Amino acid sequence: MKQVTIEDKTFGIYLSEQEIQHAVQRIANEINVSYADKKLVFISVLNGAFMFTADLLKKVHVPCELSFIKLSSYSGTHSTGNVKELVGLNEDLQGKDVIVLEDIIDTGLTMKSILDQLNTKQPASIRIATLLFKPDSLKVPINADYICFSIPEKFVVGYGLDLNGFGRNLPDIYQLI
Ligand code: IMP
Repeated sequence: MKQVTIEDKTFGIYLSEQEIQHAVQRIANEINVSYADKKLVFISVLNGAFMFTADLLKKVHVPCELSFIKLSSYSGTHSTGNVKELVGLNEDLQGKDVIVLEDIIDTGLTMKSILDQLNTKQPASIRIATLLFKPDSLKVPINADYICFSIPEKFVVGYGLDLNGFGRNLPDIYQLI
């Protein structure tokens, strides 16, 4: 089996480049149909979604804009824990149709925080496209509209996803053995 080692951890091949491209094409087709007569704004969540975003957008044929956001976590003045703030979103989204692009939805807490903040900008609609979805890990209800793969709770790297910053450049997705 094809394997990689990152930071002393061994990963086995899980989803090939070809399978990924096939799934990305499938959701691009769905988006092309759903938004045939509309204009779209994609909001890509850095760093993990960079490769998914590049491949998906090459397959989308409706007029679209692209923005990138990042989340910064910091300890707020509240004793309840971390607050996540959107960094980099300067666009006016009022009345626009938005699709958020994420690498993986695990607990769903990141996506919930993104949606809460995007909703304050009063877009006409918000949908979610995610490369990977771990339904068994969800801690808050999140409905992803476009999902390339639903996967079990195991840690994965590659195709944008990292372990301590490494592994994002791999064209395939690997699972912790
Ligand atoms: P959530 O807030 O728990 O849904 O987590 C979302 C973020 O956790 C993702 O954007 C990833 O950065 C990270 N993450 C969750 N699961 C994995 C994984 O299996 N591999 C790499 N990163 C992961």
